[in-house]
Amino acid sequence: MGNELESLKEKIEREAQGIKNQADLLKFKEKFLSRKKGEISLLFKKIPSLDPEMRSSFGMEINRLKKIGEKLLNEAEERIKGEKRSSIISERIPDPTLPGKKKIHGSIHPIARTSYEIEEIFLRMGYDIEEGPDVETEFFNFEALNIPKYHPAREQQDTFYIREDLLLRTHTSPVQIRAMRKRKPPIRVIAPGRVFRRDEPDPTHTPMFYQVEGLVVDKGINFSHLKGTLEIFSKSLFGKLTKVRFRPSYFPFTEPSAEVDISCPICGGKNPNCRICGGTGWIEILGAGMVHPKVLMAGGIDPEIYSGFAFGLGVDRTFLIKSQLLDIRYYYENRVEFLEQFR
Ligand code: DAH
Repeated sequence: MGNELESLKEKIEREAQGIKNQADLLKFKEKFLSRKKGEISLLFKKIPSLDPEMRSSFGMEINRLKKIGEKLLNEAEERIKGEKRSSIISERIPDPTLPGKKKIHGSIHPIARTSYEIEEIFLRMGYDIEEGPDVETEFFNFEALNIPKYHPAREQQDTFYIREDLLLRTHTSPVQIRAMRKRKPPIRVIAPGRVFRRDEPDPTHTPMFYQVEGLVVDKGINFSHLKGTLEIFSKSLFGKLTKVRFRPSYFPFTEPSAEVDISCPICGGKNPNCRICGGTGWIEILGAGMVHPKVLMAGGIDPEIYSGFAFGLGVDRTFLIKSQLLDIRYYYENRVEFLEQFR
């Protein structure tokens, strides 16, 4: 009898060790501990057939075995729960002792934001946004803008050539031609975008920068429309007190042409040591003029019927003025510590 109990005990212990999941738990319980058919319960039924003096000690042995079985069942249950918990933890958190991960929120790059601000002002005035490719043909970038092959203006706008007739655009002005060919007057568009030049980086130059081009073509457009438009624009962007000054200049694609300055929004001309205007009180922000008849023709528009004005504005420069920074290269290093200041 003792042997029978002993081998059952071993069997119980062995099977308890093999319990891996809830189903195994139930099976174990059913097999050994079920009141009706469990192997331990069945032993109780043998008692009446034993010698009377053996009965009580045998009964005590079975009870002990039952307790062992119950204890092993509980332990197995705890073990499974623990394994489940730790597997959940290890799946989600590889090392719960590591410090938490911080989510870093991105933000719009200050140059992009400045471009959006400029765009919004013109959108409010009823302009459309027009886009052109960064890789432009030599024809659109130069020829059509009245800059023929050996024109000295090409020297100032040297660029990266992909082929002899294909280049990275040096300004957004080629979008003027594209817009004129696509649309019919009245045309009122701005063209924001990236431009490229063969410039060594220094505090005021980078080989890639941003411009916003503007073009208006209609019957009877004259220089006063240009002046009024740029005045409203400058006041919207730099503040109501901003004054605008036009200086005669030269661009092959406009006639007459002007360079446009705004009164210094930082010192208003009062600080002879102003870092932004250098004490002059004026800062150049864009080039502009009346669209040259040859350029209108290249865009498929009859200069006898229509006239127009155009302007080109440097976005980087605009942000430089607004942020009072002195070195344009910082924006393109893309160091988060720097950019974070302009969120
Ligand atoms: N495209 C010129 C540049 O990049 C800027 C410019 C000047 C644009 C006069 C114009 C304009 O539309 O009328 O330097």
